[in-house]
Amino acid sequence: IKKIGVLTSGGDSPGMNAAIRSVVRACAYHNIECAGIYRGFEGLIDGDFKLMDARSVKGIINKGGTILKTARSKEFRTKEGRQKAFNNLVKAEIEGLVVVGGDGSFTGAMVLNKEFDFPVVGIPGTIDNDIFGTTHTLGFDTALNTVVDAIDKIRDTASSHNRLFFIEVMGRDVGHIALNAGIAGGAEEILIPEEDLGLDRLVDSLNKSRKSGKTSSIVIVAEGDKIGKNIFELKDYVDENMEGYDVRVSVLGHMQRGGAPSCFDRVLASRMGVKAVESLLEGKSNYMVGLLGGKMELTHLDKAIKGKTKINLELLRVSDIMST
Ligand code: F6P
Repeated sequence: IKKIGVLTSGGDSPGMNAAIRSVVRACAYHNIECAGIYRGFEGLIDGDFKLMDARSVKGIINKGGTILKTARSKEFRTKEGRQKAFNNLVKAEIEGLVVVGGDGSFTGAMVLNKEFDFPVVGIPGTIDNDIFGTTHTLGFDTALNTVVDAIDKIRDTASSHNRLFFIEVMGRDVGHIALNAGIAGGAEEILIPEEDLGLDRLVDSLNKSRKSGKTSSIVIVAEGDKIGKNIFELKDYVDENMEGYDVRVSVLGHMQRGGAPSCFDRVLASRMGVKAVESLLEGKSNYMVGLLGGKMELTHLDKAIKGKTKINLELLRVSDIMST
């Protein structure tokens, strides 16, 4: 391999820039060229490439977002779109591709590999931590810190006004952000899609803690949780069925995806970029690099997408005990 391409795709996550920097510098270290591909698979179809050298990625390790931009491409889902993408790769003499993104992006990478036998390696970049084969996806740790900071701030106003706050956090269909940030933020209750305890139990528990002397409370709701139709209906239900609290809702939204990556995410991105490039150079393809048992390990892309990420049951128990 003499030239590798790198793209970021799907929802951005903090640490993507650090990963781009790592891929570019690992290529330079191994004396091969690196092409940055703009706007994910869209840029692959349009041939929107730019050669990047070690100096072109200076000053980005601490930046949120992605300098290569990102997109969710509809055209890449068509055979014609993928053919155009492949032709552009061949024309630019790119012989391997590093895809930084989530499960949708990995599906795209796998199809490219299957149809054209094109070497691909994935780096899991998403705040949701919903990829199998890594204990941490890139951006998860930073998003957690952002959410905990937001919970701390909301707690100030909640306790000043004796209020109950429902705070909705991202995570798509899983509750990793909610569970971890909820424990770290001292939440009274944490509602996640993996565990449905029902509305009555929630109201009971909040009533009990109110009677035990608590004057304010925080409930973290994962966006994928189905206890209420949505967080505003959940708030209305609780408001009608318990007394003593002024109830408010705060939906944190896309601020969870922004900001400077944490130290953990910068180190993880740097390790993953090196491992991705070196895997391609060793002739490995169709794998994702991940952090397992403290080491960089490879998991087949298919397994990374389809494997279930499990909620840590011990965390659930700790969260229960902490809300005593
Ligand atoms: O996958 C990352 C994520 O931020 C999810 O947590 C969220 O459900 C989704 O993307 C939001 O997507 P969009 O940016 O398209 O609104």
